[in-house]
Amino acid sequence: MSNIISYDERIKNFDWSISEKELDYQPGNVINIGWYCSDRICKLGKADKMALIWEGSQGQEKRYTYNELRLTSNGVGHFLRGLGIQPEDRVCLFMDKIPELYIGFLGVLKIGAIVQPLFSAFGDESLIVRLENAQTTAVITQRKHAPKLRKILDKMPYIKHIIIVDADPAKPLGDREVAFDMDHAFKPEDFEIHPTKAESPSVLHYTSGTTGQPKGVKHVHYSLISQYLTSKWVLDLLDTDIYWCTADPGWVTGTSYGIIGAFSNGVTQCVLDAGFSADNWYRFIEKHKITMWYSAPTAIRSLMKAGDEVIKKYDLSSLRHLASVGEPLNSEAVIWSEKVYGKAFLDTYWQTETGSIMITNFPGMKIKPGSMGKPFPGITATVIDADTFEPFDGPGKIGLIAIKPGWPSMMRTYWRNEETYNKKFKNGWYLPGDRSSIDNEGYFWFVGRDDDVINTGGHLVSPFEVESALLEHPAVAESAVVAKPDFVNMEVVKAFVTLKPGFVGSKDLDLEIMNFVRKKLSPLAMPQEIEFIDNLPKTRSGKIMRRILHAKEWGEEIGDTSTLEND
Ligand code: WTA
Repeated sequence: MSNIISYDERIKNFDWSISEKELDYQPGNVINIGWYCSDRICKLGKADKMALIWEGSQGQEKRYTYNELRLTSNGVGHFLRGLGIQPEDRVCLFMDKIPELYIGFLGVLKIGAIVQPLFSAFGDESLIVRLENAQTTAVITQRKHAPKLRKILDKMPYIKHIIIVDADPAKPLGDREVAFDMDHAFKPEDFEIHPTKAESPSVLHYTSGTTGQPKGVKHVHYSLISQYLTSKWVLDLLDTDIYWCTADPGWVTGTSYGIIGAFSNGVTQCVLDAGFSADNWYRFIEKHKITMWYSAPTAIRSLMKAGDEVIKKYDLSSLRHLASVGEPLNSEAVIWSEKVYGKAFLDTYWQTETGSIMITNFPGMKIKPGSMGKPFPGITATVIDADTFEPFDGPGKIGLIAIKPGWPSMMRTYWRNEETYNKKFKNGWYLPGDRSSIDNEGYFWFVGRDDDVINTGGHLVSPFEVESALLEHPAVAESAVVAKPDFVNMEVVKAFVTLKPGFVGSKDLDLEIMNFVRKKLSPLAMPQEIEFIDNLPKTRSGKIMRRILHAKEWGEEIGDTSTLEND
């Protein structure tokens, strides 16, 4: 069984009303993602079906049926309302991949509040800029992450509540803290879900740009229309599937497809809240008989590195369909996956701002290893000239990816940053900020980003944020941060640093600075390499030229250096 109908058939007469009809949604109706992901599935007769199977790092397991998902998220909504949380207030989820994160997500949406997921490995600096921009009212977190919030609480007067899902009853709670045990809380059978409409805000995800602070990408409840259908057609979710999306809901894949797409399609999904190891991943697939696996190129390359022998120890025959997102999926990885799993990982391309898959390899479509595939039905995408913003008249030319605005899950703005949002549009096109070419059969071939953002292991890191953090270290005078090539992560963060007088570069200082950034920002943003240099290349006006340093790392031509000060 499969949802596969040929790509050409799907694209013929496509209209988003196909998704609206399947979801029994009429334009103008109430649409609440929390309801669609739990109550509706129960109404469809699947109340006792397993919704979530969770496994922790110690092998502990928790299971929730769709009815339990419904009731427990009702409980979250009830509790938040009791605290006085209002529709459109921002409620941050700052947790590991524990069940409370998934259920909390639906509960926040059920009361019409805006859910703001933040990656649990974020340090205080990363947290503060995102919470400040969103002016978050409440944070739902775990006891182990609460100290990071306590440290910055003084600077965040708008945070009224820190809700701890696993508080230790023997220990006193801190300022503004409140304990809330989701599993054992009151769970109303009848809960009045806030009547959100298509354009009511739903999710606020933060994403990093080259310059300035991270941007809050505002999504609305109507995004469901895209997320439901792309999950069904691209991830090919079926009622019988056991689905595993390896992404963390701190990032968009983990919410659009790790929560909304999965639950609105009523599948059983598994979550593994443990660090990566090939043995552990294969064991997980074997144990739960995973059928659909959505992962990322870095994970696939790590599995490739672990070798083919380890695969033979496990029965992976349940796997039916595999897909990947987040960074370029190199052709070797596609070919290798077909060889060892009997199925190729299908590449899908999209971003936080697009909310759902834009360009993709569609099940049943001819795969060209190394290509991202073709636009999803309903998506008009092309490649345009970076100077004229006009589409090219023939195939093969490299330009900017450009998408016609208007699909349901398109971001509605950058939170309190309309100016940057407006800059994302040129000549009637939305520009994701990536470069690609299109071949004569309409397949897109990713070339690279059109900015300095570093994509490390599928996570975007802003060089600006890392440079700012570096400058706070007492030894650092100036810094420039660029991507450095890496086999597994594609790119890692590298920092060039000039030191203040009296400091000398050493291995110890190197480690100290790395740790300093890790604690402030996150392990992802931590430079994997620091190079101490005497002078950074600058323009005559004093702007640091990352381009020169980047080109050196990648062995590329440096290009025009006529404006350089230090050459
Ligand atoms: C990159 C993740 C090549 C791209 C869903 C994009 C990709 C950014 C692919 C978005 C792909 C994502 N091939 N590059 N299949 N998918 N990217 O916002 O640069 O965390 O703009 O969303 O990742 O990253 P984000």
